[in-house]
Amino acid sequence: MTSLNRMARLLYFAISATALVSASTAHNDSDFHLKPFKVDLTHEFPRLKSLVHNTRLPTKPLYPGTGPDKGIELKTVRDLTTQWITSFNWEEQQKELNKFKHFTADIEGQTVHFIHERSKDPDAIPIILLHGWPGSFHEFVPVIKPLTQSVKGADGKSVSYHVIVPSLPGFVFSSPPPRLNWTNHDTARIFNTLMTQVLSYPTYAVHGTDWGSVVGYAKYSSFNTTVRTGQFVFLPFIPPAAKEISDANITLTEIEKVALQRSDDWAATGNAYFMEQATKPNDIGLALLDNPVGQLAWIGTKFKDWSDPRAGTSPSELTNTAILTSVSLYFLTDSFLSSVWIYAQNPNGFAAVYTKASTDAPLLFSQYAYNIGFWPREWVAKAGNLVSYKVHDFGGHFPGLDNPPALIEDIRQVAQYFKR
Ligand SMILES: *[C@@H]1O[C@H](CO)[C@@H](O)[C@H](O)[C@H]1NC(C)=O
Ligand SMILES: *[C@@H]1O[C@H](CO)[C@@H](O)[C@H](O)[C@H]1NC(C)=O
Ligand SMILES: *[C@@H]1O[C@H](CO)[C@@H](O)[C@H](O)[C@H]1NC(C)=O
Ligand SMILES: *[C@@H]1O[C@H](CO)[C@@H](O)[C@H](O)[C@H]1NC(C)=O
Repeated sequence: MTSLNRMARLLYFAISATALVSASTAHNDSDFHLKPFKVDLTHEFPRLKSLVHNTRLPTKPLYPGTGPDKGIELKTVRDLTTQWITSFNWEEQQKELNKFKHFTADIEGQTVHFIHERSKDPDAIPIILLHGWPGSFHEFVPVIKPLTQSVKGADGKSVSYHVIVPSLPGFVFSSPPPRLNWTNHDTARIFNTLMTQVLSYPTYAVHGTDWGSVVGYAKYSSFNTTVRTGQFVFLPFIPPAAKEISDANITLTEIEKVALQRSDDWAATGNAYFMEQATKPNDIGLALLDNPVGQLAWIGTKFKDWSDPRAGTSPSELTNTAILTSVSLYFLTDSFLSSVWIYAQNPNGFAAVYTKASTDAPLLFSQYAYNIGFWPREWVAKAGNLVSYKVHDFGGHFPGLDNPPALIEDIRQVAQYFKR
């Protein structure tokens, strides 16, 4: 880069940082070292490619005819790895990611990476979108810009959002938790600091999925003066088994029956990774740390298995390219190991006993049919001030990718309930 170019870039950063600061009057960034950030893994990608290129895979399956219920199929890994080293274009993906305004801030000694896209509407509702494992900020890419745009809501009032998408500690560009006993409650606290002090939003809404629902629910319950609405597609409570639901005499719709079956299947044969990551994070973490094909198999199987069978066809944007971008982000930032530690650091992240959140803030919940957990309305209502319960027949565990129009609608509904 020429020095002139560099100057221009620095100037651009300075201007966008200033714009961000002046957008909120009570801002004080003196402690947080708020800085613009760009995704730049250009120099790291060739090594990934060469490792993938040099990885040996069997020429044919050991037992032909075994399906994905025995784990990711050889053909799937082969197709994905071939795409990774031939047509997949990291530069293009990176350019897409850099269409968003990224920042980092230092909070309690940690680097927190986040996207901050402000609506042009000064009255837009601030919302923080929280991802889980094996997701990242990337799973919200299709919903961020649409949410910043003003649309007319049911009551004729315009609805728009200032959208904040942080990376959880230990995921991609956020530094790993600084100590072993760091939990999701600590993450909830630093993200509340991000919203209220770094970005000066006195109140805001939260959306969470997977571990992001654990962090989001902790925020919803523990920061009840600042978090004024919660929208979730997953909960930090273990979903009820089929027997508990039938014992409660609850009649399910056909779509809910699909969701229940998926939930039961996950509990029966889909959660070994959870135990592994919760009990021996270093084994899987170190085994796969420098092994892109290994990460692709371990993570790719979740993207494939936990999504709608129609994934990749409209309205789903969960394509093989999206999976490769997600895995590339983990690999290229060396964050696979620290990402799996979230399971070990939060042994009680998902509770068996339901408790009610300590807040009067509205709770909205959306069940996606092909998710890995099914929470009937009656169970969600135990967790908070439930005002809306919806079931979507398309989409699974990553609705931001697997059914973005539905997730956009879910989140826009927050405006009906949000009071500053
Ligand atoms: C920002 O916060 C620091 C430390 O809390 C304080 O010393 C400083 O005066 C504040 N600056 C502004 C402009 O409020
Ligand atoms: C976490 O560990 C640190 C030492 O690493 C200790 O000072 C702190 O009290 C611990 N916190 C909790 C909540 O146990
Ligand atoms: C469910 O229905 C059965 C039979 O009508 C009844 O005995 C039982 O008490 C009901 N259970 C609940 C939780 O309502
Ligand atoms: C927030 O939580 C506290 C402590 O549980 C409770 O006393 C208070 O009523 C709650 N406030 C709101 C607005 O829900």
